[in-house]
Amino acid sequence: MENKIINLGIFGFGVVGQGLYEVLNRTKGINARIKKICIKDPNKSRPIDSSYFTTDKNEILEDPTIDVVVELINETEAAFEIVSKALRNGKAVVSASKRMIAENLPALYQLQAENKVPFLYEASSCASIPIIRNLEEYYDNDLLNAVEGICNGSTNYILTKIFEENLSFTTALQQAQDLGFAETDPTLDIEGYDPKFKIVILLLHAFGTFVKPEEVFNFGIHHLNDFDIQFAKQRNCTIKLIAQCRRQNGHVFAYVLPHLIREHNLLYDVYNEYNGILLESAFTDKQFFVGKGAGGTATGSAVLSDISALLYNYRYEYKKIKQNNQPSFTNDVKLKVYLRYKSPDQVDLAEFFNISEKYESTEWRYVVGAINLQKLREAGWLKNKDVNILVLE
Ligand code: HSE
Repeated sequence: MENKIINLGIFGFGVVGQGLYEVLNRTKGINARIKKICIKDPNKSRPIDSSYFTTDKNEILEDPTIDVVVELINETEAAFEIVSKALRNGKAVVSASKRMIAENLPALYQLQAENKVPFLYEASSCASIPIIRNLEEYYDNDLLNAVEGICNGSTNYILTKIFEENLSFTTALQQAQDLGFAETDPTLDIEGYDPKFKIVILLLHAFGTFVKPEEVFNFGIHHLNDFDIQFAKQRNCTIKLIAQCRRQNGHVFAYVLPHLIREHNLLYDVYNEYNGILLESAFTDKQFFVGKGAGGTATGSAVLSDISALLYNYRYEYKKIKQNNQPSFTNDVKLKVYLRYKSPDQVDLAEFFNISEKYESTEWRYVVGAINLQKLREAGWLKNKDVNILVLE
């Protein structure tokens, strides 16, 4: 596509779509222009000229002058249909839909290979942090051990406001929604589904292993209470919602869980809607990436970077899939956790390998001990609002 103007057909004009419009307008020297934007609701008032908009998806998908389809909508099934059709029609596709991508990775991998067209989705994971391209291009060997970090801007914003400004959970969540960070259904953020979709995508690019989102355990910050916050503060720690995937004994495990984070940890100082990713590899120890993980222009800039990469025919090579020595996925891993509850009948302490600390008061109890991740996945008792869990470092 060198030396030509790329015609874009965009699906969706929400926070990210508008962010892309803004960064595109403010970036000089990018040979791309918006030809059409497909939206669902024609009656909604829009900040730009109505001639951009259509409600007919074929005005983009069947237009031979549109080179690149940019998919930025909220509905998973509709997004997959659009992306599949665009790839089949030979169009390059850029997407930010983490859920749709995570749930359909094997099919999307096939589609881009069969149709020999690029499918890029840097904005889907950690928004402005160029993590997918780094995993693809720089870490194309088997020395990478772990990808770990904060992959959700909304929950990091909420935790920052709670720890730094003593705001209530509800007020902080409302602010994250008002600022356009949260998902339309914010339980996806606060219960840890959104970062799970992202870690499933990162796991594929880090290790070449396809994992279904339902195989990965996620537990968010929805049960956090003042007792947990005091527990962390008394230890000079903070709490961050951590997504990670890590090699262990020839396998790879992954999860999303709140962690108690000490001051010396690089993730401690990642505040507000920022995300932070720590990579661990055999010879470099830790490397740290930080950047805005949510918000219109931060995410729009990653979409624009993908569009710009298409100008030099960039595509993911998925070398680690092709190498055919990828680790298999496991949930068989031991975690050291703090488990807080109200009464002993609410939890099953027999599931623990060992318990090193026990606390009881009239209101709350907790134990510190080691438990298998698979047991946590199966533990119905974690659904009880009186029960919370934190991974200890
Ligand atoms: N709701 C997401 C977040 C948006 O808060 O991180 C960016 O993916």
